[in-house]
Amino acid sequence: MKRTNYCGLIDEKLLGETITIMGWVHRRRDHGGVIFIDLRDRAGLLQIVFDPDNPATFSVAEKLRNEYVVRIVGRVRNRPEGTVNPNLTSGKIEVLAREIELLNPSLPPPFQLDDDTISETVRLENRILDLRRPQMQNNLMLRYKVSMAARRYLDKHGFIDIETPMLYKSTPEGAREFLVPSRIHHGQFYALPQSPQLFKQMLMMAGFDRYYQIVKCFRDEDLRADRQPEFTQIDIETSFLDEEDIRAVMEGLVRAMFRDGLGVELPDPFPVYSYAEVMRDYGSDKPDLRVPLKFTELTDLMKTVDFKVFRAAADMPYGRVVALRVPEGSKLSRKEIDDYGSFVGIYGAKGLAYIKVNDVMQINEQGLQSPVVKFLPEDILREILRRTGAQNGDLIFFGADHEKIVNDAIGALRGKIGHRLGLAEEGWRPLWVVDFPMFEFNEETKTWSARHHPFTAPKDGHEDLFSSDPEKALAKAYDVVLNGWEIGGGSVRIHQQDVQAKVFDAMKITKEDQQRKFGFLLKALQYGTPPHGGIAFGLDRILTLMTGSDSIRDVIAFPKTQRGQDLLVEAPTPVTEQQLRDLHIRIRASDSVKT
Ligand code: AMO
Ligand code: AMP
Repeated sequence: MKRTNYCGLIDEKLLGETITIMGWVHRRRDHGGVIFIDLRDRAGLLQIVFDPDNPATFSVAEKLRNEYVVRIVGRVRNRPEGTVNPNLTSGKIEVLAREIELLNPSLPPPFQLDDDTISETVRLENRILDLRRPQMQNNLMLRYKVSMAARRYLDKHGFIDIETPMLYKSTPEGAREFLVPSRIHHGQFYALPQSPQLFKQMLMMAGFDRYYQIVKCFRDEDLRADRQPEFTQIDIETSFLDEEDIRAVMEGLVRAMFRDGLGVELPDPFPVYSYAEVMRDYGSDKPDLRVPLKFTELTDLMKTVDFKVFRAAADMPYGRVVALRVPEGSKLSRKEIDDYGSFVGIYGAKGLAYIKVNDVMQINEQGLQSPVVKFLPEDILREILRRTGAQNGDLIFFGADHEKIVNDAIGALRGKIGHRLGLAEEGWRPLWVVDFPMFEFNEETKTWSARHHPFTAPKDGHEDLFSSDPEKALAKAYDVVLNGWEIGGGSVRIHQQDVQAKVFDAMKITKEDQQRKFGFLLKALQYGTPPHGGIAFGLDRILTLMTGSDSIRDVIAFPKTQRGQDLLVEAPTPVTEQQLRDLHIRIRASDSVKT
């Protein structure tokens, strides 16, 4: 007999009707004489009642255990007064079973499905059972809804889905690649794509005008809570639009995903900040704008003081001294302040000077309680109070070091303390970050590399800075940031062959290497390449934010652990000697023992 309804969707509109449902036994309760089960399917739970007056079904019901799969025929009726469950769609009704068929029993599950204290390792080892939990069902349903919203929006705006290869070639694009050995070509390798970047550009060259793909990307990076070695991008490219036009179409997409996925209306338009601005005010290129705290610049001021910690940082090349005013922060205990000191240590800060502002009118150690006030002259202290706008009861933290350390440390402190002290707003605060630098200096190799990727166009005229001041050259690159997460990034691309060659030159990629690695691109650029640009959104990250999950793994059906393993199917694994032979590969003994 065919299923007539999903359990979780049955409500009082079906009162009196006879229905057929299929599902899993979520819970069974024996109430002296009457048996209740909560039957579960992907739509939710439904209460089934077994009456001893129907001995055929009752005797089957007595044998039911959690996770048994059954088919039930029964009649929908009102729940008795006082037993209504307002949290369920089916909460006002129940089903009196008339027939039951046991489709399949189950071993006792290794954990209770509604126990949310189980370790992630156990969950990932038993991923199928874990995915049956209502939370995980909701996460993956929402993921589907959001990617459908993206497809609808992109389709409406004329973007077409075109597939690109997964067996690609090794190119320096940023992260380490996953390599795939070729059997036919001895000693040669494919690489899995870090993104379809050059393919989508070549599709623009080929005249497809507007492309998108919801696509897997592979990066062999160190994994964190917001990273997976294989992850999904909503990857997009368009021709003949400038930077502002591209951003307008793309933020429309983000709004559509939030509207259709969560019923949330995001701001229109998103605010736009330059890279220089966000680094100045938040020390981060992905600031959480829900936190209202901002940095106060003190580098210029500290060039005049004797206090070594601040003076040395102010005088060093790329040194920076900033203050972070925390309203009403002087209520923090000594221990809490010390804990924040250890926290910034993670980012390389050597200390965390502070001032508790007891009384702004008393510029001395009573008014300003601090380990550093005694080292600073009165006029400097007044200027710090003026610039930070400090009030009685506030706390001012200081960071002084190389700008990278100050930005990382005080930027992270800003987020942590803002949320901890309840200063952060609720809701969603998207923004664009634009005008990124073209290049970043790699201290190890002493060379300049592309900050976004080497196919990103410079701001008009900025290619003239490549040889004189590479650090000043800005790019037509943009990121979408939401609540402290980078959810997407893209750029206008280079469409002129000579500009592309200049970028490779600036990165000290030799002409031979340019040809060997990107010959296909340099050649294609000469055959009428349209101006073009695009973006890629991190779908997993967007869903992690939308569901409020702690980890990106909670929105991926079959994710990898922090150590890159799939605990369900147990990958990776060794392979046979014959398989290696076919691929012309020999394992180095010393490397294979390392875990
Ligand atoms: P980018 O490298 O910035 O750009 O990636 C785009 C977006 O993908 C997400 N993302 C990740 N999500 C999960 N795990 C990872 N390891 C991971 N790495 C990146 C982020 C990021 O914003 N080809 C360019 C895009 C373009 O220029 O059009 C690119 O890949 O949310
Ligand atoms: P010290 O002179 O090292 O004892 O430091 C005096 C005060 O300055 C202490 O409160 C330290 O926590 C703080 N401090 C030391 N180094 C730094 C730094 N790089 N940035 C901010 N504060 C610091």
